[in-house]
Amino acid sequence: MASQSALINVMQKASTYASRGMLRDFGEVENLQVSRKGPADFVSRADINAEKTIRKELSKARPGWGFQLEEGGVIEASEPGAPVWVVDPLDGTTNFLHGIPHFAISIAVMEIDAQGRKTITAGSVFDPVKNEFFYAEKGKGAFLNERRLRVSGRRSMADSLFGCGIPFLGRGSAEDHAEFQKQLGTIMSVSSGVRRNGAAALDLAWVAAGRLDGFWEKGLSLWDIAAGVLLVREAGGFISDFASRDKALDSGDVVAANPSIHGELIRKLRD
Ligand code: IPD
Ligand code: CA
Repeated sequence: MASQSALINVMQKASTYASRGMLRDFGEVENLQVSRKGPADFVSRADINAEKTIRKELSKARPGWGFQLEEGGVIEASEPGAPVWVVDPLDGTTNFLHGIPHFAISIAVMEIDAQGRKTITAGSVFDPVKNEFFYAEKGKGAFLNERRLRVSGRRSMADSLFGCGIPFLGRGSAEDHAEFQKQLGTIMSVSSGVRRNGAAALDLAWVAAGRLDGFWEKGLSLWDIAAGVLLVREAGGFISDFASRDKALDSGDVVAANPSIHGELIRKLRD
């Protein structure tokens, strides 16, 4: 059984508090689907409210730390050199908006050295619908609730199930869309299947949990992936950009998989 550190407790408490309002709002969203305008404004308010709750809880526990927030932008640390909280209050916004119960709160602790190199030292992804709290600390392993996580042991593409992100209207250029279609064509024909679940933070948590054998998406933001990068690594997986470099956090281009198939997945994606 995992004994959670004080830091992870802080992250879990902030996620839990924010999830209460979020689940209430999710119940309302279904009623709003029928209105002509749809629930978009309502959801963006839900998102902002969740972020406020998270920020309040995290700053209470670690007053001098900075923030990089999806909604609120960058807030410099008041304590020199202190870590930065990287927060996505609602990953899977489109799912939420459409009443699809698959979304999460992602929180990470990021340290930046004098050369500007980013290291994620703690991360959590909370799925409030399934009550699944995924978390990891650097060097201490990855966990789901109280269970230690390990990436899958599958060794062949043929047996593997992949997750991905599909670019959409307003995301990615026409070339990016065409490139994705080509990648999907390749991966679908050599694997057990491809899923597009709609919450990148959870996709990475699911790679860490061995539910997905691999995942790829281009153009993600730091808050989508910061916690997930650490979860995958601490569960024994590999995560990189599409050129196998340790640059996923800087570019937002992500290929994650168990160590046996990461190289092959990259080769197929680049074919
Ligand atoms: C999005 C989700 C989605 C991914 C998009 C992200 P949001 O985050 O993670 O799965 O495909 O690229 O922007 O907008 O729901 O926080
Ligand atoms: Ca997101």
